[in-house]
Amino acid sequence: MKNTVYDLLDKNMRLPVICAPMFLVSSPNLVINACKNGVVGSFPAFNTRTQTTLDEWLTTITKALKAEKQKDPAATVAPFAVNMVVHASNKRLHDDFEVVKKHKVPFVITSQGNPKPIVDAVHEWGGIVFHDVITVAHARKAIDAGADGLILVAAGAGGHAGEVNPFALVREVREFWSGPLVLAGAINDGYGIRATEVLGANYSYMGTRFIATTEAEVNPDYKAMLVDADLNDLVFTDTFTGVKCHFLKPSITRAGIDLSLIEGKTRVDLDLGGSNAWKDMWSAGHGVSGIHSVVPVAHLIEQLVTEYNNASQVQAFNGAAYHSMEVGR
Ligand SMILES: Cc1cc2nc3c(=O)[nH]c(=O)nc-3n(C[C@H](O)[C@H](O)[C@H](O)COP(=O)(O)O)c2cc1C
Repeated sequence: MKNTVYDLLDKNMRLPVICAPMFLVSSPNLVINACKNGVVGSFPAFNTRTQTTLDEWLTTITKALKAEKQKDPAATVAPFAVNMVVHASNKRLHDDFEVVKKHKVPFVITSQGNPKPIVDAVHEWGGIVFHDVITVAHARKAIDAGADGLILVAAGAGGHAGEVNPFALVREVREFWSGPLVLAGAINDGYGIRATEVLGANYSYMGTRFIATTEAEVNPDYKAMLVDADLNDLVFTDTFTGVKCHFLKPSITRAGIDLSLIEGKTRVDLDLGGSNAWKDMWSAGHGVSGIHSVVPVAHLIEQLVTEYNNASQVQAFNGAAYHSMEVGR
C-alpha cells in the first residue's frame, strides 16, 4: 500500500511545523533536534560541499532518528527533508540526487525549476515531494508536475522571499488546490502556526526563529543580532544575490559596507571587500522582533506547543480583553 502524506508527516509530528532549510545554517544537529522534538527538520543539499559529505550527513541523521525511535518506540519522531534546487543551473543535481536516492530520503523539498523528474523518482521509494513557490503561477506549474504539496513563500520571509501577501496567496491557491499546503514568512510563534491553519494552510515553514537556537551552527553574533533586531533593522534588496532578499542591516555594516550606498547597486558595482551574502551578510524574516532569546530547539518547540494550544483557545470576536475597557473621558 502507498504511503499518504498523513502517514509520513502528521502521524509523526507534534506540531504542524517544518524547520525550513537554510543555506549555511541548517546542520545535522539542528535537523536531528527538530525531528526528535516532533517537528520536521530539513537542510539544503548545498550545505554539503561534496556528495561524500551529503552521504555522511544523511547517514548521521538517519541513524540518530532510528536510535531515538528504538530508545522509545512511543516517541513522536518526525521525518526529515532535503531541499534541492531543480533548476538547470544546478550542476550538482544529478549526483546529489543519487545520494538522496541511496538513502531513500522520505521527504524532498524542491525549489526553482520543474520538479517532475524528481517527483517521479521519489515516489518510487514511497517518499513525497513538496515544491517551494512564491507566485500563484508557479503553484499551478508545481501541481501539473505532480508535486505532493506546495510551500508558499510569502512576503516577509527570510532568505529569497516572495512579494505576495500571505492571506492573498493562501486563499488564491486554495481556490484550485485542496492538497497539502505549507506557508512561509515571518511565522515565529505558536500563534502564527495556529493562524496558518485557520487561514487554510496545513503546515508552517519556520526559518529565522530556528537560527536563534543553541543548535544552529552560525556565528553567535548572528544570533545576538536576531535577538536585538526589529523590522527597522531589515533591508529588502537584490544587491547581494541578484534576487530580492531580506538582510539584517547591522550585519551589512559589520561587514564594512556603507548601507547608504547599496540601493540600486549590484555586487559588481560595490566594493564588498571579500564579504559574501549569507556568510557575512545575514538574512532574517519580518518576524525578528518576536525573537527574545537563544534557546535549545527542545525548549523552543515546547514554547511553540504552549502558544499553539493557547491560540487554539482564543475566543473569536466576542472574547477580546478590551471589551471591558471603558471608552471616552
Ligand atoms: C539564512 C537563510 C537561508 C535560507 N536558505 C534557503 C535555502 O538554501 N533554500 C531554500 O529553499 N530556502 C532558504 N531560505 C528560506 C527558508 O527556507 C524559509 O522559506 C524562510 O526562512 C521562511 O521565512 P522566515 O525566515 O520568516 O521563517 C533561507 C532563509 C534564511 C533565513
